[in-house]
Amino acid sequence: MGPNAIAATIFLVLAIHARLCHGITRHYRFDVKLHNVTHLCKTKSIITVNGKFPGPRIVARDGDQLVIKVVNHVINNISIHWHGIRQLGSQWADGPTYVTQCPIQMNNSFLYNFTINGQRGTLFWHAHISWLRATVYGPIIILPRKNESYPFPKPHKEVVITLGEWWNNDTEAVISQALQTGGGPNVSDAYTFNGFPGPLYNSCAGAKGMTDTYKLKVKPGKTYLLRLINAALNDELFFSIANHTMTVVQADAIYVKPFEIDILLMTPGQTTNVLLKTKPNPKHSTYLMAVSPYTTGSGTFDNTTAAAILEYEISSNNSSKRSPNNVTAKDLPRLPSINDTSFVANFSRKLRSLGNAQFPVNVPQTVDRHFFFTVGLGTTPCPKNQTCQGPTNRTKFAAAVNNISMTLPTTAIMQAYFFGKNAGVYTTDFPQFPLNQFNYTGTPPNNTNMMNGTKVVVIPYNTSVELVMQDTSIITAESHPIHLHGYNVYVVGQGFGSFDPKKDPPNYNLVDPVERNTVAVPSGGWSAVRFKADNPGVWFMHCHFEVHISWGLRMAWIVLDGNQPNQKLPPPPADLPQC
Ligand code: C2O
Repeated sequence: MGPNAIAATIFLVLAIHARLCHGITRHYRFDVKLHNVTHLCKTKSIITVNGKFPGPRIVARDGDQLVIKVVNHVINNISIHWHGIRQLGSQWADGPTYVTQCPIQMNNSFLYNFTINGQRGTLFWHAHISWLRATVYGPIIILPRKNESYPFPKPHKEVVITLGEWWNNDTEAVISQALQTGGGPNVSDAYTFNGFPGPLYNSCAGAKGMTDTYKLKVKPGKTYLLRLINAALNDELFFSIANHTMTVVQADAIYVKPFEIDILLMTPGQTTNVLLKTKPNPKHSTYLMAVSPYTTGSGTFDNTTAAAILEYEISSNNSSKRSPNNVTAKDLPRLPSINDTSFVANFSRKLRSLGNAQFPVNVPQTVDRHFFFTVGLGTTPCPKNQTCQGPTNRTKFAAAVNNISMTLPTTAIMQAYFFGKNAGVYTTDFPQFPLNQFNYTGTPPNNTNMMNGTKVVVIPYNTSVELVMQDTSIITAESHPIHLHGYNVYVVGQGFGSFDPKKDPPNYNLVDPVERNTVAVPSGGWSAVRFKADNPGVWFMHCHFEVHISWGLRMAWIVLDGNQPNQKLPPPPADLPQC
């Protein structure tokens, strides 16, 4: 081969490599607009994307670039967050209002532009301002790169099941009233499967119940990949299918070691992919799927159960057909009791990273910076001349990280940071450890008042971080699904009671810990996570219960630039919304 032939060959190889590895660009348009929907006998005008509830799905391959034009046609300010997308090099597309961007105002638009980098599975997008994500959410499906396959048998079909909540009331009114009075907000009226509450709720007429029910049609003896998403505002959910088992293969768009279950749990913000093998010879033509809440808090919650139908496409003479109009509780799969914390602990212990040569576990083995954050509830004082509805009439409910209940600024933190205009927007003194130490899961201190502030933690590029998150028993011990933007974290340890810095770390799993974007801090317990801060920018971290985020259980990390050009926060796009 002459030099020209060699050059041509090299060029060809590089071109093929680029085709295979760099993916394509996919364009979407999201028109945020009002739309009427009817559920539970009630017609309501809700905020939607493109008039759909749940919203449109985004489908892409790992390595693809997504360009999504979001146009706001409603009077509410909006921004969209691509929950779980790492946003490497596209920090301005992350979406949380007043953290990475100002909201998109009515009749304005913003182009979210990002590339998926090393992620595959299921994620979701949702509004990231106030409680608008109650109706503004939809799936993100990330397929493997073209030349890659699943590390499990190829399913016959893939199905998305997005779990959510249905509210008869206007959720914006619900949260603004609760923040006014300081009391606990109202709760949802139903849980939903892809937007449908199903046959267990009151739905006007018999025939109506059918149309208000999600139905999954399957063939016997096939394998289905169910992409499950918990998009509920305030509830962790159990999910089960009567007389069927499932194999968990992915969580938060990361492959896990497969394991069999008949019930799974997802916190808001978490996703789980499972393989469902349908029966070769089903006894019935229909089976119920169901979701019910898990909670240990002392406040009110939506304690309903929602059902959907798994329907076999078979001739009905050899199996009994059950009409969805007369399903009864005895057709439901077994679900754990509402406060079954030991089921939850057992389930989360089973989640392990797949950790093979192709998908290695990159958990930091050494730590540069240790952080210890308490997460939990508390109070703020009731304003003078007002009677409040918090734990006492002199207090309002609040929530905090290290006793700091975060106030959102009126401009975006990342913009202030990038332009060096942080004065009056945020301070960099978020404490590494709680300022007041107490027995976190024992008798709570008398003073439950929390501090207000907009404080961030600043860490250098590439810091190996260990973060222990500790629930407290102030007001009530409760599970907190903590979501970190811009990163996945490895869950190296979890336990009940107060974290013991001597006894607990030797039991860490530094071999195959699960990697997630949303980690439940167990009720009355702690979770230890590690991550490498390889993504410069401003990254929001908060409880994914909307009520707790509203009460202030949120904070932000600033990860400084590295030395290389690709290790720096790029300048904002020209169309970034201004406040
Ligand atoms: Cu899915 Cu900051 O949220």
